[in-house]
Amino acid sequence: MAERIPFIAGNWKMNKSLSQAIDTVTKLKELIEDVQDVEVAVCPPFIALDAVVKVLIRSNIAVGAQNCFWEEKGAYTGEISPLMLADIGCRYCIVGHSERRKYFGETDANVNRKVRALYQFGLLPIICVGETLEQRQQGLTMNVVEEQIRGCLSGLPVNKVVDSVIAYEPVWAIGTGHTATPEQAQEVHSFIRNLLAELYGEENAQKIRIQYGGSVTPENIKGLMAMPDIDGALVGGASLEPEKFARIVKFKQ
Ligand code: PGA
Repeated sequence: MAERIPFIAGNWKMNKSLSQAIDTVTKLKELIEDVQDVEVAVCPPFIALDAVVKVLIRSNIAVGAQNCFWEEKGAYTGEISPLMLADIGCRYCIVGHSERRKYFGETDANVNRKVRALYQFGLLPIICVGETLEQRQQGLTMNVVEEQIRGCLSGLPVNKVVDSVIAYEPVWAIGTGHTATPEQAQEVHSFIRNLLAELYGEENAQKIRIQYGGSVTPENIKGLMAMPDIDGALVGGASLEPEKFARIVKFKQ
């Protein structure tokens, strides 16, 4: 089995002023400076990205955006392009988060266009998928996740797909304190890995990192990371406090 380096990313959502963002990453940088065997990223709001990149230069923490548009430039009022994100030193961009699907009508087709645009400018997507509580109760979890993955990755060459990060985030677990159990998460992660193997071959599927997201805390990270197909976490609430996020990053210690 391929060795996948764990990847823990913090999704700050619409939180923190510029000075709070700078303060948070300054603290985080110090708290996790000795971490080598885990990849770490923070995803602040757009207005803090440039400053956060500057604080984190030559650190072991990468920076990601929480969204982008798919065009390079032009008359798209209010949008931010992948070219702009690449220009200031972002490495990742979250796409298809359930909050964007719910409040901003983001579809798999939109996500697919964003993923293609991100690759064009050398950024790596963190592609979010996951079912709602209603869908889970109706036994539709795997169908929903399969449709999202197929739609989001549609037409992408395999050499791009292997660098993509998939974040399985059951909607019912996001911001609710109801984390999926490690077994519940593993069941879906393993399903995703098998689907990727069907689409891109077993060897490639083994290279793709699949994060879990939804109420991850310093207390539950270890159990989740012990599962064979859970390769990291996308952390919301608990990533806002540097001490908490550092404990999650240091789940092995
Ligand atoms: P949460 O958010 O950790 O606050 O549940 C996770 C996410 O939405 O990425």
